[in-house]
Amino acid sequence: MKAEDARFPEGFLWGAATSAYQIEGSPLADGAGASIWHRFSHTPGRVFENQTGDVACDHYHRFAEDIEWMRRVGLSAYRMSVSWSRILPSGYGRVNAAGLDFYARIIDLLLANGITPMVTLYHWDLPAALDDRGGWTNPVVADWFANYAHVMFGALGDRVPLWATINEPWVIVDGGYLHGALAPGHRSLFEPPLAAHNILRAHGAAVRAFRSGPWSAAGAKIGIVLNFEPKDPATDRPEDVAAAKRADAQFNRHYIDALFRGRYPDDMAEIYGEGWPEFPAEDFALIQEPMDFMGINYYSRGLTVADDDAWPTRAIKVINPDAEYTALGWEVYPEGLKRVLLWAKERCGDLPLYVTENGAAFEEPSTVAGGLLADPRRMAYLREHILAVRAAIAEGVDVRGYFAWSLLDNMEWSHGYATRFGLLHVDYANQKRTPKGSALYYRKIARTNGAALAEATPEVEALPALPS
Ligand code: FCB
Repeated sequence: MKAEDARFPEGFLWGAATSAYQIEGSPLADGAGASIWHRFSHTPGRVFENQTGDVACDHYHRFAEDIEWMRRVGLSAYRMSVSWSRILPSGYGRVNAAGLDFYARIIDLLLANGITPMVTLYHWDLPAALDDRGGWTNPVVADWFANYAHVMFGALGDRVPLWATINEPWVIVDGGYLHGALAPGHRSLFEPPLAAHNILRAHGAAVRAFRSGPWSAAGAKIGIVLNFEPKDPATDRPEDVAAAKRADAQFNRHYIDALFRGRYPDDMAEIYGEGWPEFPAEDFALIQEPMDFMGINYYSRGLTVADDDAWPTRAIKVINPDAEYTALGWEVYPEGLKRVLLWAKERCGDLPLYVTENGAAFEEPSTVAGGLLADPRRMAYLREHILAVRAAIAEGVDVRGYFAWSLLDNMEWSHGYATRFGLLHVDYANQKRTPKGSALYYRKIARTNGAALAEATPEVEALPALPS
């Protein structure tokens, strides 16, 4: 491959992503209210080894050091999220100035370092006070969210060029309300369709709030972040093909069809049965409020077979014996990222896209001797996936940036701290950050605007150390 074929369009953003609850720690500091993740992680048995986000990566106190690492890694962008209950401790009503100030300082320091911020308003940490009122199942949540969004636009809208409303509706719904592995931990057939609908309405209401102010006219952009996973039947048996279609509807099309076609896939009623209600047609105008870009998170694919015991989709994922798997048991399937980008273009037209998350966890030690941790598998993962993005661009998809998940090892939700996704290793005993080989490699990719991808994945020893 020639360097020019690997090079990305001028101005392409090279970023890394994090989220508030996963890195910040100090969840109740300076007047913040509790979130559902604070509550969930403090409920015994919910998170691996009952770990919590009480300290996490202590980013709350170490954000300046972490931004210094971003500069050293050569990032041109950083995707972060805001904790709603730091800003509005009860979810609505009184604004907590200390919470706003915390995020204002981060944004200012990013900008001073030439790093473009993308701010996600909701990355799963609903104020616990709102959960007490039904959380995402209460239709009023769309107003609560739009109000919170408006507070954030008012405070930071003059400095933040890229806003994402909501991160991964599918995970919020599937983990939070259908299977219960994530906060708030419900297992219901009736709540997921309602939660999904209200999440989409909340997104639309936040976009409307954004358009009501000066921010769009000043050039700032707003979008949503969806996660996709190609659902491929593992065999050509008709029952497996049908199962993969249901899984695809429940995972991928539920959200994108509502946003861009103004209706839910027909499969949804079949999947949820008596749990699937009628939705007012007029809600879809709000849901379809035009946005400026879409963020896509991609990790893996789902090789699927039919299984009547798998509630409620009657479809399960199976292992591909020929594939590599990550520490979380996710198939490494770079081709899927290209497929997902081409498919999204087909569904959303010429909307600019960002890959807002992509990365992998592999087994790694809790402490590191020496100044570097070699992580050749992550380096290979990054190279193959970023090349898949490049291939999608070559086929006409308008991708504007790529954000590696994640900047730092962090609290991987109910998997806790043993699952490590970072470009930087975190030693939780002393909060020491140590670059991994992938941080050095990512720096090289970013600095050459992708051209370095033309060569095979380098030996870690051959990469220049991060600058001081
Ligand atoms: C995504 C989440 C992110 C992180 C990665 C591994 O689904 O958005 O917070 O947990 O998976």
